[in-house]
Amino acid sequence: MALEVIVLAAGQGTRMRSSLPKVLHKLAGKPMLLHVAETAQQLQPAATHIVVGHKSEVVQDAVAHLPVNCVYQAEQLGTGHAVGIGARDVAEDATILMMYGDVPLMPAELMQAMVDKADQQQLVLLTVTLDNAHGYGRIVRNNQGNIEAIVEQKDASIEQQAIQEINTGIMAMPAKFLRAWLPRLQANNAQNELYITDVVAMAVADGIAIDFMQPEFAQQTQGVNDQLQLAELERWYQQQQATSLMGQGAQIADPSRIDVRGELSVGSDVFIDVNCVFEGQVNLGDGVHIGPNCVVKDTSIAAGTMVKANSVFEDAIVGEDCDIGPFARLRPGTELAAQAKVGNFVETKKTYLGKGSKANHFTYLGDTSVGEGVNIGAGTITCNYDGVNKFRTQIDDGAFIGSNSSLVAPVVIGAGATVGAGSTVTKEVPADSLAIARGKQRNMAGWPKPTKQK
Ligand code: UD1
Ligand code: MG
Repeated sequence: MALEVIVLAAGQGTRMRSSLPKVLHKLAGKPMLLHVAETAQQLQPAATHIVVGHKSEVVQDAVAHLPVNCVYQAEQLGTGHAVGIGARDVAEDATILMMYGDVPLMPAELMQAMVDKADQQQLVLLTVTLDNAHGYGRIVRNNQGNIEAIVEQKDASIEQQAIQEINTGIMAMPAKFLRAWLPRLQANNAQNELYITDVVAMAVADGIAIDFMQPEFAQQTQGVNDQLQLAELERWYQQQQATSLMGQGAQIADPSRIDVRGELSVGSDVFIDVNCVFEGQVNLGDGVHIGPNCVVKDTSIAAGTMVKANSVFEDAIVGEDCDIGPFARLRPGTELAAQAKVGNFVETKKTYLGKGSKANHFTYLGDTSVGEGVNIGAGTITCNYDGVNKFRTQIDDGAFIGSNSSLVAPVVIGAGATVGAGSTVTKEVPADSLAIARGKQRNMAGWPKPTKQK
């Protein structure tokens, strides 16, 4: 049966105390709603309907790149009302999976298992048992243990309030059942809202089978209502990432001090020191060592490379056995061949550094191609920008750039050439020659020092 997903995301999330709609707050660097929408995509649904309301334009923009259909709920009259709007365009013979935009960590396999059960013409609930169930809808079961109803906190009797099994809010069911139930929902409850949870009692009355599933971890179905819950869920998620990386053999100095905001793949014998952040797609080859306080984004680092403390990478490709940092900054378009060295306070951008080449101290290399075995002295700057346009610098194999040189692009330093320290190079330096472009030193013997004026 074709699957259609309905995601409820119309609420404001007052308790976040933020101008940003709740579902756009980020977990692991990604808006919660994107976590949900991407999980939904993994199920390959025929359609995904996202119910938007509060700041709908902003929310719609955040999912614009996904094949989803946003439907507008002008007034938030309850989850039953929201599902009614989300289900408007759903095909008669579809199976519906209902998700919440503020429950970011639901596993796709669990959602699929619920859908498979709903395909058997059942209403399927996702429930979880909590030590503190306060605030949630309670799962009411009869003497045989069969689910009879969901009762919201505000409508629950004292006995019902003692129930610890709660409704996570996630449900799956055949669309034709939902269509029959939606017009029968009534707002005669403590909150004067249309509760989607009332469909459970309707299923019982109609003799429709009700099944349920539970998550492996309660956090997988945890909704976020405030900043504290968001932070707690983030820490749990990061702990799971660290556990998985260690399971793959990575050594992590402190599993509570690593953040993976994307996907991190590791080879064997990788070591990651404390306080590192990995964003986007990051690949670390065998034996890579990452020092403390590094930020690595969308970067591949090949086997054997050593990264020292406080280095920052973005959109870079690093070859084998390189030596980087401390305090190096590799900006987008940086590519290092094997055994290259980039040391402290060196910044690179759109720069290729050939095999074994070194820029060890205080240097800016922008829009630069560096051959093999080049030595770039401390304080070298490629002057790549004239205020309007950018130009490239080319430094060929075996060249030596003396300290504190400015290479004014476009310029070529030929193979084996040497640039004398303190030079400002504006013209091509031919291969194997020496260029010196600096003020000449004059020594004045016996020069009288200035004296203090009265
Ligand atoms: C709901 C469930 C409750 C469950 C709890 C789990 C109902 C009546 N209750 O309660 O059983 O234990 O979730 O967290 O369903 N939303 C809309 N439009 C609306 C109303 C809500 O889009 O008109 C969205 C909200 O933005 C939120 C979600 O639906 O993402 C749940 O709504 P909320 O008001 O938080 O329901 P709860 O009272 O928490
Ligand atoms: Mg809620």
